[in-house]
Amino acid sequence: MKTTFTLYNQVKIPNVGFGTWQITEGAYESVKYALKTGYRHIDTAEAYGNEKEVGKAVKDSRIARSDIFLTTKLPSHIKTYDETIKHFHESLERLDMEYIDLYLIHAPWPWSDQGSDHTAGNIEAWKAMIHLYEKGLIRSIGVSNFGIKDIEALIRATNFIPHVNQIPLFISVPQNELRAYCTSKNILVEAYSPLATGKLLKVDAIVKMAEKYQVTPAQLCIKFCLDLGTLPLPKSTHEERIRNNFDLNFKISESDFNDLLGLKDVFKTHLNERITN
Ligand SMILES: NC(=O)c1ccc[n+]([C@@H]2O[C@H](COP(=O)([O-])OP(=O)(O)OC[C@H]3O[C@@H](n4cnc5c(N)ncnc54)[C@H](OP(=O)(O)O)[C@@H]3O)[C@@H](O)[C@H]2O)c1
Repeated sequence: MKTTFTLYNQVKIPNVGFGTWQITEGAYESVKYALKTGYRHIDTAEAYGNEKEVGKAVKDSRIARSDIFLTTKLPSHIKTYDETIKHFHESLERLDMEYIDLYLIHAPWPWSDQGSDHTAGNIEAWKAMIHLYEKGLIRSIGVSNFGIKDIEALIRATNFIPHVNQIPLFISVPQNELRAYCTSKNILVEAYSPLATGKLLKVDAIVKMAEKYQVTPAQLCIKFCLDLGTLPLPKSTHEERIRNNFDLNFKISESDFNDLLGLKDVFKTHLNERITN
């Protein structure tokens, strides 16, 4: 099984990342366990409040830094050049790292004002990130929760295409239009909340199909994202689940994959799970 994706700047990125949203207490233990299990890609953010624990777990693992892919994110309300530089260096310090593998603009709008227009601010933040990338402090740069228009504005202003767009993507929300656009630009799509924060795990059709393959519903959901050509970021705080979510050595048949792709409205989705363009 392929274990990495290659970004358009040739940087390799392990194809399953360990998500750390909503892990504050115990982030150290969870990341330590994920690394012991074999994950080599960890996804954090300034907003998660756990960069210090994540960085310490990476260091204490004694795995070579170059074998680990570490992502963190610029808070969604930071929309100026200088503040972006400042927040990046603060993240670097909390993580106790010399560089970051991937730095993302967490969202095109502050979480408190979703959907508001911050095009000018996003361009400022993006220019600062390009500067940090060119200085060698970040190996790749990208965005998160960005729609097509948001990405187009960055490219128009700077001619620099993001390496990654991290978006909500899971069975029943395959993000067809945005995914096709990203693919056309060689932007890797990272699938966040691949289990829909746990909500998919009790959906009848998923439970039944997982039984057929003798895997858990979580494994089926994560494998679906990979088969779609996207990079899943599952999160768990339980050792057994962390291990289970990384064990993806099975094949979904084409017909079952198409059935999963066709599933719609299996539960009520949050507004922000459907990124509008
Ligand atoms: N960029 C963004 O704006 C953004 C937004 C959301 C998420 N993300 C990223 O994506 C990551 C994952 O998304 P997410 O945290 O929403 O959740 P998720 O991975 O879709 O689901 C996590 C939930 O499922 C449970 N779970 C995990 N594995 C399981 C298993 N094998 N069996 C049963 N239950 C299981 C977890 O519980 P336990 O922890 O109790 O095991 C947790 O409640 C985040 O951690 C973050 O890194 C990014």
